[in-house]
Amino acid sequence: MRAVLITGGAIRVGRAIAEACAEAGWQPVIHYNSSAGSAEELAKKLGTVAVGQNLSQEGAGEKLIAAAVEKLGRPLTGLVNSAAIFEHDTAGEATEEALYKHFRINAVAPMMTAKAFAKQAPDGGAVVNILDQKLFILNADHFSYTVSKQALHGATLTMARAFAPKVRVVGVAPGYNLPSPGQPEEVFERLAPTVNVLERRLTPEDVAETVLFALQHRAITGQVLIADNGEHLKASPRDVMFSE
Ligand SMILES: NC(=O)c1ccc[n+]([C@@H]2O[C@H](COP(=O)([O-])OP(=O)(O)OC[C@H]3O[C@@H](n4cnc5c(N)ncnc54)[C@H](OP(=O)(O)O)[C@@H]3O)[C@@H](O)[C@H]2O)c1
Repeated sequence: MRAVLITGGAIRVGRAIAEACAEAGWQPVIHYNSSAGSAEELAKKLGTVAVGQNLSQEGAGEKLIAAAVEKLGRPLTGLVNSAAIFEHDTAGEATEEALYKHFRINAVAPMMTAKAFAKQAPDGGAVVNILDQKLFILNADHFSYTVSKQALHGATLTMARAFAPKVRVVGVAPGYNLPSPGQPEEVFERLAPTVNVLERRLTPEDVAETVLFALQHRAITGQVLIADNGEHLKASPRDVMFSE
């Protein structure tokens, strides 16, 4: 059975990806940082293992791949870099601290995890980097987050060239599919169908299905699949979390 490591796999979008991978016959390895309880509970439910690692630490990517391979007892065929932080600032407010923090967790850690993954992967391995539809219709919100994801976008295209022909590298850019930090569920439910051109709510399962497609499609590398019900086609002056 092919194994796939999902960073941030214990909760929300990462959890939906882990469940979709298990359903499709992969063994998902659930990475967590603070959500140890949810990770162990999900691993038990799916008959697999969980691995903890703080991705803001030096050498985190290499340590994470080594720990996952050791727990599994065999190489990983897939890696989904989903873990990220999403904190608000604008270019006018950004601090070095916020920029370094976002770059470390959202860009450097996934790049180093992908590098360590590619070393141990068999032919036909695949990396899926979770980006954001925001990159394709920019507004001024979440500056540090956006530029860190732009770096990961660049790495996706460059790594696809570097890791070929052994490993494919694909980006998946989700739209708004779960409440933003602190946003009440009823506000999310009301807004979700209004932010995209298909006028229906995007779900974490829609995103997970796209990730699975990217993971399994042997002809796709060095490109981004935008899974957002066409949110990137609908201009908005601000991030959706400020719509009301
Ligand atoms: N939700 C959306 O609508 C949306 C839209 C567009 C793009 N995305 C992208 O989709 C991905 C998942 O989004 P989400 O909303 O499910 O994220 P989330 O709820 O904010 O969860 C973040 C995940 O990242 C992990 N994480 C955060 N800091 C970490 C650290 N220092 N070390 C290790 N892991 C860390 C967390 O692990 P623990 O819980 O174990 O600490 C958690 O699993 C992200 O890449 C995000 O940018 C989401």
